[in-house]
Amino acid sequence: MTAPLYEALMDYVKKQIIPFHMPGHKQGRIFPEEYLVNLTKIDLTEVPGLDNLHNPEGPILEAQKLAARAFGAKESFFLVNGTTSGIYAAMYAVLDPDDKVLIMRNSHKSVYNGLVLTGAVPFYINPEIDYESGIPMGVNIDKLEECLKKNESIKAVVITYPNYYGFCSDIEKISDIVHKYHKILIVDEAHGAHFPFSGNLPLSSLQVGADIVVQSIHKTLSSFTQSSILHLNSDRVDTNRLKYFLSLFQSTSPSYLLMSSLDLARDYMEKEGKNRLEKAIILADYARHEINTLGGVRCLGEEILGSFGIVDFDKTKLTISVKNLGITGPEAEGFLRENFNIQVEMADTFNILAMITLADNKEEVELLIKGLANMKNLKKDKKLEVEIEDYPDVPEMVLKPAEAIRQKTKWVSLEDAEGSICADFIIPYPPGVPLVCPGERIKKDMVKYINVLYNKGIKILGLNKNNSLLVCEI
Ligand SMILES: Cc1ncc(COP(=O)(O)O)c(C=O)c1O
Repeated sequence: MTAPLYEALMDYVKKQIIPFHMPGHKQGRIFPEEYLVNLTKIDLTEVPGLDNLHNPEGPILEAQKLAARAFGAKESFFLVNGTTSGIYAAMYAVLDPDDKVLIMRNSHKSVYNGLVLTGAVPFYINPEIDYESGIPMGVNIDKLEECLKKNESIKAVVITYPNYYGFCSDIEKISDIVHKYHKILIVDEAHGAHFPFSGNLPLSSLQVGADIVVQSIHKTLSSFTQSSILHLNSDRVDTNRLKYFLSLFQSTSPSYLLMSSLDLARDYMEKEGKNRLEKAIILADYARHEINTLGGVRCLGEEILGSFGIVDFDKTKLTISVKNLGITGPEAEGFLRENFNIQVEMADTFNILAMITLADNKEEVELLIKGLANMKNLKKDKKLEVEIEDYPDVPEMVLKPAEAIRQKTKWVSLEDAEGSICADFIIPYPPGVPLVCPGERIKKDMVKYINVLYNKGIKILGLNKNNSLLVCEI
């Protein structure tokens, strides 16, 4: 057999690596047996009786209605191209070319790509940054209101809630303010699909009147990767227009595996899933407490509340700072993989992120704690210093993103990029927060900052092998 991807997957499976990452089902631990044995047989198409995602009238419509009821939405729509496609559809549903939209600077790439697609003009709101952990956190409510007050022509606001690490801005206040100024609130709730199912988790933005909410069910619940749901939750959005764009961004051969896994994930959460979720929260609380007694490492939590625009956090996310050991997140990630057969969700400069979901168990969490305890052996004399205070300001926007990506481009080395207009996104990934967007001028401080990340071994999308980036020829 010569099937390199398949073989790589089989090799990975053989290693029995312990997953503290997405998808939430953790390699199929909580699917019914009947589903697993019939998986290939239900990889079907729009044959009679199985409905059509693009014009649902039968079981797909019914499944979507059940999802709307379970998640607390007016209407819900299955997505087979991830939350990414839902964000595009949501932005298209409310924005015309040159319409103004307020977005968070630490938005996911899909929101930025939504700008490129729609031709909308972005206004940015910088997240509050926790310099100690290096994490872009929440929205400053006053800044949000000031921006909406000053720019009456803004039509919609796109908020990421929670952030990748599970920290939550004050979504209740955000919703009030956005609606006070008669704007439409779109929430990228990719990491909060489990919120509606526990009173011990932050509020879902669905509970506070957000207009459109998009959730990656595959991330924190139990559906297959790439399956998400867009929830429509108000009368401020033209439903027919939304439906058109939902259809446009989805395959005409939507996978019944993905759609059925969404249906099952919802059913699971209405039954034993709720209990499992409470257990996951207790397990994560236990892990956070134990990790914080180890010394050297620090698991972020309640102490963040009340700062950086953050009012709540998702306890199932373990954000572990390794900064005081003098090692980087990627080094810590590698240590856990090589010595404890553990794979975490992601690593950034100072932290690793481990996800506890419905599918986790105590033994594996104990192993994670043991691995973190052993990390002390890696301790370096020098504390890890990255001048995070120097995080550069949002660069000046010379062209809107949709214009910039249509310019003629050339590669220039990072050293020579000062003064150029960027033609691509420069994104350290994860966590996927763009430093520079198409149409923005690259200044000296940005060149310096990108170099720092590069030298730390952080993967930077937008930089090629020769450390060059794509700029507009003008
Ligand atoms: C904040 C955020 N929004 C949106 C997305 C896109 O979600 P999906 O992978 O379901 O397309 C991601 C994925 O990582 C994300 O982190």
